[in-house]
Amino acid sequence: MDIEILNEARLRYWCRRIDMPEGGVNELAQIAAEVSWNDSLLAIFTDFHQKTALRGEWERDSADLPVHPQVAEVLGERNSLFYLLAYLAAMPYAEREYLRRGIAMDIFHDTMRDISVWVQDAYDIEGVWRFRQFGWIWEHLSCELFRLGRLQFKLTTFDDQVTAYRHNSSGKIRLLAAPDVPLRADGAALGAGKLPPGYESFFPAVPEPVEESWLPVFEALPGGWRGHLISPYGNALKEEKFLPRPEWEQILKQGDTILDMHIPRKDCFNNQACADSLRQAHAFFQTFNPERPIRAGFCHTWFFTPQLQQILPPESNIVRFQREFYLYPFAGGPGFLWLFAFGRQYPNPATAPRDTSLRRGVLDWLAQGKQIFDLPGLMFHTPEEWGTQPYMREWDNQ
Ligand SMILES: CC(C)(COP(=O)(O)OP(=O)(O)OC[C@H]1O[C@@H](n2cnc3c(N)ncnc32)[C@H](O)[C@@H]1OP(=O)(O)O)[C@@H](O)C(=O)NCCC(=O)NCCS
Repeated sequence: MDIEILNEARLRYWCRRIDMPEGGVNELAQIAAEVSWNDSLLAIFTDFHQKTALRGEWERDSADLPVHPQVAEVLGERNSLFYLLAYLAAMPYAEREYLRRGIAMDIFHDTMRDISVWVQDAYDIEGVWRFRQFGWIWEHLSCELFRLGRLQFKLTTFDDQVTAYRHNSSGKIRLLAAPDVPLRADGAALGAGKLPPGYESFFPAVPEPVEESWLPVFEALPGGWRGHLISPYGNALKEEKFLPRPEWEQILKQGDTILDMHIPRKDCFNNQACADSLRQAHAFFQTFNPERPIRAGFCHTWFFTPQLQQILPPESNIVRFQREFYLYPFAGGPGFLWLFAFGRQYPNPATAPRDTSLRRGVLDWLAQGKQIFDLPGLMFHTPEEWGTQPYMREWDNQ
C-alpha cells in the first residue's frame, strides 16, 4: 500500500502544517527513506499504520510503545522516530475527518502542533530527536482531543464513584466521597503523598498517618443520598451527611459525560485566556457532539496539588486555576509535579534548579518532610463565571 507520509515531499508538507522543527523533519525524512528501502521495515510500518490510522487500534495507555525487535535492531536509539512517523501517517486521515465533520482547519493546526512541541521538548532536554508521548497524541490523531484557544479538551466518561449535588435554592455544590477509595484519618486518600521509587533516599521520611484507614459509605435512597462530604480542597469529612431530595439534586455520577481539560505549555495562562477557551469548548462540543451534553468540567494535573496554595502566592496562575475546581481524594504523589516542574533530567533534589519560586517552594517544602500529592478536580460553573473560585471561596466563608 502507498503511505503518503513515506514520500519526502508529503512528509515535509505535513510537518510544515504542524510547525515541526527542521532538525526533527530531517531525521524523520531519513527514517522514511530507510523504511522505504528496507522491505521488512516497510512491512512492519505498513502493519502498524493499518492497525493505528486505519483500524483505530491505538496503544491507549501512557506506557511506552512496544518496539518491534527488528525496528530496535535496525534503528537503535532512533526507533521512536519510526513510530512517530507511523503516527504522523494518520494526519491525512485526521484532516479528512475534520473536513467531514466541518471542523475548522485552524483547530487542526492548533491541535496537531502539540506533537511538534513534544518533539522540540525532548530535543531541548536530551539533545536528540526522539518522541515519548505516544500515549497522548493518539487522541489528537483520532480526533478525540482538540485545542480550542489556550486549553485542550475532550469529552470523556466520568469513571469515578464520587457524586456531585447542587442545592436547589442556594446553588451550592457538594461532592460525596467514593465508597471504593480508602481514606486516611485526615480524609485524604490512603497512600497519597508516597514518594516515587528511588526518591526516598533524597527526602526526609514523611510520617505515615497513625490512625487506621476508613472507607466512606454511600447510599442512594428514595429520599436522598447518604455519604461523606468532601471539602473542595480534596479531603473527605468523617461525619456522615444526608442530602435530602428535592432540596438537593444529583448533578454528576459515574458514567456521565465530562469535559476533560488539559493545559499545553507556554502561552499566557491567565483567567481571561482560560475562560475564553472554555467558552469555545462548550460551543464546539454543543455543535459537534450535541448527543453528549456536558455534566461537568474535569481536570487532573500536577498543579492540582493542594499544597501549592501554601507554596505559591494567591495571584499565581497555577493557584488561581486550581481554585476554580472542586478537588477530591486520590492517591497521588509528588512524582507528577516533579516531572513537570523539574523534569526527568533532574532526578535529585540536591542538584535540582531553584530558579523559580515554584521550584524553590517545592524543594523547601519536601525538605521539611511535608507531603505533596496531586488530585483530580471537577467544575460546574459556566465559562462566564470562571474566575469566581466558587467552591473553595464558599467553603472558606462558611
Ligand atoms: C501551566 C503553566 C503555563 C503555568 O505557568 P505560570 O503561568 O508561569 O504559573 P504561575 O503564575 O503560577 O507561576 C508561579 C511561579 O512558578 C513558576 N513555574 C510555573 N510553572 C513552572 C514549571 N512547570 N516549572 C518550573 N517553574 C514553574 C513560574 O515561573 C513562577 O515563578 P516566579 O515566581 O519565579 O516567576 C506552566 O507551568 C506550563 O507551561 N506548564 C507546562 C504545561 C503543563 O504543565 N501542563 C499540565 C500537564 S498535566
